[in-house]
Amino acid sequence: MGSLISVKNLSKTFHGHQVLNRISMTIEEGDLVSIIGPSGCGKSTLLRCLNCLDIMDEGCLKIAGTSLKRTNTQQTLDSTFQKKAHRLRQEVGMVFQSFNLFGNKTILQNIMLAPMVVKKETQAIAEERAWKLLDKVGLRAFAGRHPDNLSGGQRQRAAIARALAMNPKVMLYDEPTSSLDPEMVEEVMQVMHDLDDEGMTQIVTTHEMRFARNASDYIIFMEGGEIVEISDEDEIFENPKDERTRRFLRHFCGLGAYEW
Ligand SMILES: Nc1ncnc2c1ncn2[C@@H]1O[C@H](COP(=O)(O)OP(=O)(O)O)[C@@H](O)[C@H]1O
Ligand SMILES: [Mg+2]
Repeated sequence: MGSLISVKNLSKTFHGHQVLNRISMTIEEGDLVSIIGPSGCGKSTLLRCLNCLDIMDEGCLKIAGTSLKRTNTQQTLDSTFQKKAHRLRQEVGMVFQSFNLFGNKTILQNIMLAPMVVKKETQAIAEERAWKLLDKVGLRAFAGRHPDNLSGGQRQRAAIARALAMNPKVMLYDEPTSSLDPEMVEEVMQVMHDLDDEGMTQIVTTHEMRFARNASDYIIFMEGGEIVEISDEDEIFENPKDERTRRFLRHFCGLGAYEW
C-alpha cells in the first residue's frame, strides 16, 4: 500500500524568514504521528501547509491521490492549483487549540454545517451523521448546547466531531489539549485513541510527551524549520540520535530518568 501523505522538499518563508526548510516525510494510512519541537520551530505552519491553509512556497504535497506541486513563490496559483488545494482541504480535517467552533450555533448545528454548505448535503443526511458523531465523542446529551455552555474538553470533542463530519482521510490536530485544564486532557486523547483503533490517519503537534510516547506510531522532532529526527516513540525518549533532540527532551522533561 502506498503512503497516504507524501511531502517532498516543502519550504515556506514569512517575510524573509524561512519557517519550513525542505521538509520531507511520508505517512502511511492509519498512522498516528506526533510532531514535537520547541515553540516557533514550524509545527503549526507545517500542519497549515498540509491543509493548504498556508500555501507552501515550494515543494510537493500529495494527500490521498491529490498532488500539489509548486516550484517557486513566483508561480501563480492558477485555478487548477486552487481547485486541487480545495479538494485537498476536503480530505483533511483540522482541529485547533482554540476549538474555533461557531459560538452562535449549537453543537449539533456546528457538526452539520460544513457538509451542508460545502458538500450540499441535505439536512436529514447531515443530521443523521451528526448524531452518530456525537455518540462517538460522547456528546449526545449536549447536542443542543452552545459552545459557551460546554467545558473545554467537551468543546474540543465537538470540534473533532465537526472535522470528522466532512469524512476526512486525515485528521490534523494543532496542540489540541494545550488550552485544556489537566483533567480534560484525557477525554480528548481518548477520542484520538478510539479513532486510531478505527484506522484513522492522524497527525498531532503536542507538548504532551506522555501522549506522544504512548499513542504515537512514531514521533517527528522538528527544530528551526527542519525535521531533525523521525523516530520510534520509545527510541526517541530513551536514546535520541541527534544532539538537538536530546537537548530538547532534556529541557522539556527534566534531567535524568523520568517516569511516563
Ligand atoms: N502568518 C504568519 N506570518 C508571519 N510569520 C509567521 C506566520 N505564521 C507563523 N509565523 C512564524 O513562523 C515561525 C514558526 O511558527 P509556528 O509554525 O507557529 O511554530 P510552532 O507551531 O512550532 O510554535 C514563527 O517564527 C512564527 O512567528
Ligand atoms: Mg504551533
